[in-house]
Amino acid sequence: MAIIYDEQQRTLTLHTKNTTYQMQIDKFGFLLHLYYGKRAEGCMDYLLTYYDRGFSGNPYDAGRDKTYSMDALPQEFPSLGTGDYRSPACIIKNTDSTYSSDFRYVDHEIRDGKYALQGLPAVYAGDEEAQSLEVKLEDKVTGVQAVLLYGVLPEYDVITRSVKIVNGGAGNITVEKLCPACLDMTGGNYDFITFYGRHAMERNYQRMPIGHGLSKIGSLRGSSSHQYNPAVIVADHGTTEEAGGCYALSFVYSGGFQSEAGKDQYNQTRVVMGISEEQFAYPLKPGESLQAPEVILSYSAAGLELLSQNLHRCIRTHLCRGKYKEAVRPVLINSWEASYFDFTGESLLKLAEQAAQLGIEMFVMDDGWFGNRDSDLRGLGDWKVNEKKLGCSLKELISRINGLGLKFGIWIEPEMVNEDSDLYRAHPDWAFVIPGRRPNRSRHQLVLDFSRREVVDYIYAQICSVLDQGNVEYIKWDMNRSLADIYSATADSQGRVLYDYTLGLYDFLERLVKRYPNILIEGCSGGGGRFDAGMLYYTPQIWCSDNTDALDRVEIQYGTSFIYPVSSVGSHVSASPNHQTGRCTSLHTRGTVAMAGTFGYELDLNQLTDAEKNEIRSQIKDYKKYAALIQRGLYYRLTCPQTDDVGAWAFVSEDRSEALVQAVTLKQHANMPVNYIRIRGLEEGCMYREASTGRVYSSAALSDAGFPIPIAMGEHQAYQWHFVKEK
Ligand code: GLA
Repeated sequence: MAIIYDEQQRTLTLHTKNTTYQMQIDKFGFLLHLYYGKRAEGCMDYLLTYYDRGFSGNPYDAGRDKTYSMDALPQEFPSLGTGDYRSPACIIKNTDSTYSSDFRYVDHEIRDGKYALQGLPAVYAGDEEAQSLEVKLEDKVTGVQAVLLYGVLPEYDVITRSVKIVNGGAGNITVEKLCPACLDMTGGNYDFITFYGRHAMERNYQRMPIGHGLSKIGSLRGSSSHQYNPAVIVADHGTTEEAGGCYALSFVYSGGFQSEAGKDQYNQTRVVMGISEEQFAYPLKPGESLQAPEVILSYSAAGLELLSQNLHRCIRTHLCRGKYKEAVRPVLINSWEASYFDFTGESLLKLAEQAAQLGIEMFVMDDGWFGNRDSDLRGLGDWKVNEKKLGCSLKELISRINGLGLKFGIWIEPEMVNEDSDLYRAHPDWAFVIPGRRPNRSRHQLVLDFSRREVVDYIYAQICSVLDQGNVEYIKWDMNRSLADIYSATADSQGRVLYDYTLGLYDFLERLVKRYPNILIEGCSGGGGRFDAGMLYYTPQIWCSDNTDALDRVEIQYGTSFIYPVSSVGSHVSASPNHQTGRCTSLHTRGTVAMAGTFGYELDLNQLTDAEKNEIRSQIKDYKKYAALIQRGLYYRLTCPQTDDVGAWAFVSEDRSEALVQAVTLKQHANMPVNYIRIRGLEEGCMYREASTGRVYSSAALSDAGFPIPIAMGEHQAYQWHFVKEK
């Protein structure tokens, strides 16, 4: 049993294989958080302490007991109005315009299987793999309920949390803040690890101590954003890759979000994660409810690498869906950096022919194939194939590409519209524009109001009519600007529009996934601007960054690896000098870095020398050889590319029988000291043979003394070693 209710102690305990999460219904009906950490038995309510805390007030029920204060007790779902002055998980404006919510326990239910969320992405699991807990809380005065949901996947050391607010009262209310996850920790000193960035340089690792005063990250952009990723790690000060306690909170949501972390006056830490409060004021009429997206939680007592491995496994196998979730993805060539908007059907075919000769398996026609889209000034919204530009129908182009032995994929950006488009001319009110104001443009485009069903329906029909023209086997779903000027002509309140927009996006994606179960969808938002667990429910891979520079990619992929599996990381070999940085790197280095993801190419293959073409042929063979290990192996970060001279990582098979180690020298010096990379993850006390040299090494020496990175002339050399356990 993963979930246990102890009637005597009134505790609800959630066990996974290595972790335990416990809460208690206290004497007044408040739901207190007791514990989350290493697997533990018994009741942890000894952690609660009661002292007279001066200005921390007491609920009326406590009578003259000044030692009972919600301002000091750890809680599951803190709200305003109970005397807790820390950051709440929920703020509700009641019918009478007051802001108090006094949620008390009503009942609970334990079920086999993992709950699902209507219209929202969520972790899924069979009845034998998971259990769910629903705890109903209610504010007796307003009749408003908070229904807390917990999903427990014991084998994965994962617990999920969501919450539904139900307006059980007689008047209208507004939900102004909703964070499905709150972690209150009574002791300890923690660090807040977050992943910040910008377009073309996403998910940089940052670690800072959680102190007094809130550390807050989030996105006000209507999408999860390049600037902060909707996943955080809370780690003990001393936690390293290999040792120490740490928690992950990964939001399964692709809209604006926020996460706050801070110590309270008694040095207790609270971390919350949920929907961005900005422009959020969700109205609920009597009987209506609002379901929040879920947060994936995991705890590791053995450092960050195990935490990442837990998340990778859960996201890869219980969040990603469809035919491709476990399959090695086809090696693709994407037309974007090969020719941008400047192509014809013939030039695409020339690229495809070359790709086929090199062993590439799929051709992706990127932006520029529809409407009058010859630049980013126009055309978005007009999802009609530009047959004049292609010189043939889409059907014919696809069958010629299929005839070369390649699958065919296509780029779309359904959420957007250019003012210079037939769609905008016909339906200007379908774009987010505030009446009387001029909208903010970004990349010359506006955002379609996907909170409106008719807009989603229309674009969906347009896209389907394109996809139905031929044998499309891959879609790149792009989204190239942040939302602004939020105004929906048909909404009863503008405070719901951003949330409903994301629900509209999910509705579209769900319909697409159901109608085309054989199509592989890759998410994208100017690269990795919407790289989140929500999107991964629909798109098992996401274009990691518009930055294809091999060196920058080592850092971007490093940050990404803390939360997301390698199978989700879109990664391509592009031209040198690189189009984003101007940096030159060898084809070998670019190939090595791109292999740590879903491998592909994005350059004009016709410009390559014969030697380079041969190298690509063997690169693809190499990738194929290791692809299953790369995709499903346990991931180890062997260095920190932000501070080390070398970027190195390893994929180790779950049975420890083999490991692929990849390394790139990031800094080059004269008379350079040797860098030794300690290879983790190998089975203790075993010997491993390195495939290229045949030399046998002891796993103890490889992990303790390390493996020397050769010193060679020239910048940014890359290396790859395959270690196989001796029988
Ligand atoms: C975005 C994507 C690129 C490419 C262009 C096309 O920037 O991230 O990969 O598809 O759009 O306009």
